[in-house]
Amino acid sequence: MTSQPSSTTLRPAVPVDAEHMHVIEEKLFGPDAWSPDQIQHELARLSIDRWYVVAEQGGELVGYGGIFLSPPDADVQTVAVVPDVQGAGVGRLLLAAVIDTAWQQKCSRIFLEVRADNAAALGLYQSAGFTKLGLRRRYYADGVDAVNMRLRRNEPTPLSEVPDVG
Ligand SMILES: CC(C)(COP(=O)(O)OP(=O)(O)OC[C@H]1O[C@@H](n2cnc3c(N)ncnc32)[C@H](O)[C@@H]1OP(=O)(O)O)[C@@H](O)C(=O)NCCC(=O)NCCS
Repeated sequence: MTSQPSSTTLRPAVPVDAEHMHVIEEKLFGPDAWSPDQIQHELARLSIDRWYVVAEQGGELVGYGGIFLSPPDADVQTVAVVPDVQGAGVGRLLLAAVIDTAWQQKCSRIFLEVRADNAAALGLYQSAGFTKLGLRRRYYADGVDAVNMRLRRNEPTPLSEVPDVG
């Protein structure tokens, strides 16, 4: 994972991105993909309590991330990067953008749920400083557990963490 996403641009999502986002959803999540209606619903709430960002390369949409904002809390809704572009830092950029927005919107804690078998997503979230809170057993339809994670504002990153000596 050494290449840099130098040609990647980020911009806030707009409702007309829904169609392209759905194509990516289907590629990545198959039967668990959000339907066009679910994506429209998310994007219809952009000025209410959602913020979505899209990543583009050469004018093509290659990923997106979204967050539900309910200060002081926020929930990561999704982070998704097309398979061809995975491993090149785009997911990290998208996640950083949604985290920044949450802090700007006066949130102090960000939560998320991720499949326990999704090593890439767990790695991404942990590298951004999210810590595991617990498991929801057999949360997903196929019996896989959900891992609940949380990031607090100003939480030390894993690299700067020191043992708690009470
Ligand atoms: C999870 C996902 C968004 C990561 O995006 P990405 O652009 O591939 O990730 P990046 O290249 O920005 O990697 C950032 C960090 O994530 C972690 N990571 C990424 N891919 C990983 C993998 N396959 N295994 C373990 N950790 C991984 C690493 O910590 C990585 O940092 P590093 O490059 O310094 O090692 C992407 O794999 C994806 O879209 N997956 C399918 C959709 C999905 O499962 N979304 C999350 C649940 S909603």
